[in-house]
Amino acid sequence: MATGKRILTGITTSGVPHIGNLVGAILPAIEASKASDTSSFLFLADYHSLIKNHDPDLTFNSSFEVAASWLACGLEPDETVFYRQSDVPHIMELAWILGCLTAKGLLNRAHAYKAAVSENEEENSADPDRGITMGLFNYPILMSADILMFNADVVPVGNDQKQHLEMTRDIANRFNHHYGNTFTIPEAQISDEAGVLPGLDGRKMSKSYGNVIPIFIESGGLSKLIKKVKTNSLEPGQPKDPEGCTLFGILKAFGSSGEVDDMRLRYEEGVGWGQVKTDLIELIDQRLKPFREEYLKISEDRDYVETTLRRGAEKAIEVADPVLERVREAVGIKSF
Ligand code: TRP
Repeated sequence: MATGKRILTGITTSGVPHIGNLVGAILPAIEASKASDTSSFLFLADYHSLIKNHDPDLTFNSSFEVAASWLACGLEPDETVFYRQSDVPHIMELAWILGCLTAKGLLNRAHAYKAAVSENEEENSADPDRGITMGLFNYPILMSADILMFNADVVPVGNDQKQHLEMTRDIANRFNHHYGNTFTIPEAQISDEAGVLPGLDGRKMSKSYGNVIPIFIESGGLSKLIKKVKTNSLEPGQPKDPEGCTLFGILKAFGSSGEVDDMRLRYEEGVGWGQVKTDLIELIDQRLKPFREEYLKISEDRDYVETTLRRGAEKAIEVADPVLERVREAVGIKSF
């Protein structure tokens, strides 16, 4: 394992990822894990998934699908500490300890909790906390434990996670102040929203909008999805504007700079929408093919995925063990 700065991020286990996840998170994280002056920690946030979902099959299958997806997209288990959160019970223990130090008021201000409360208020519910679990309420503490357990320096996350990182810093500072310097104060590395991949309907590609292209989709399915993308009514021969065009936005994420420049020129020359779609389908299909083949192979080798994650957990525990030891000692939980 490389030394140097520790980069850590958690992956929510919500099924097979889409190409927006691929270009926005998966490939950049894999690239970053290759740097020799950092060490990278990547984990499946499977205990987080219980917050939103109480279907055991879904929890189980999603976890596997996400693990297989990352491996299929090129994650190198020798370059990254890749593990399941649930294989490192230290995190749960730390979450309790941190919770005993965290003001309830801090969590009252969490965006996700506040959104749930205002939904109840809008519905004039007698109880503003109706349907809200302690899991949802405590989520930021579990996330803090995920991060502080490994003394991460840098945490790459989407903009929606910014507040959780601020809370983590807050909780770490409070612990350090009260019990003595124990935790590294992590920095958030917020991903650039400007480069977000457009979905099939032109909005940001997101599972919640139902406008995604799955990474491992077969050629036929891919073709159907791209053909459904809405375009304007300009005819072949009429110049077209690549800016703000959904098809062009998707092409930009996958094409080489030569291919992108070439297409820009053809837009100006008035290429027909049908032709743009045909070329785009071909290009994406070529790019996704190796991932698709790898995914099929890995999905059939459940032992490989299991063994890889177990080995990852062993490495993670080597790091977590001494930290938890220090934390227990600091709070006064130790042998007589
Ligand atoms: N909450 C994060 C998300 O929804 C996932 C996550 C869980 C995470 N624990 C983490 C990210 C720790 C970074 C660090 O995307």
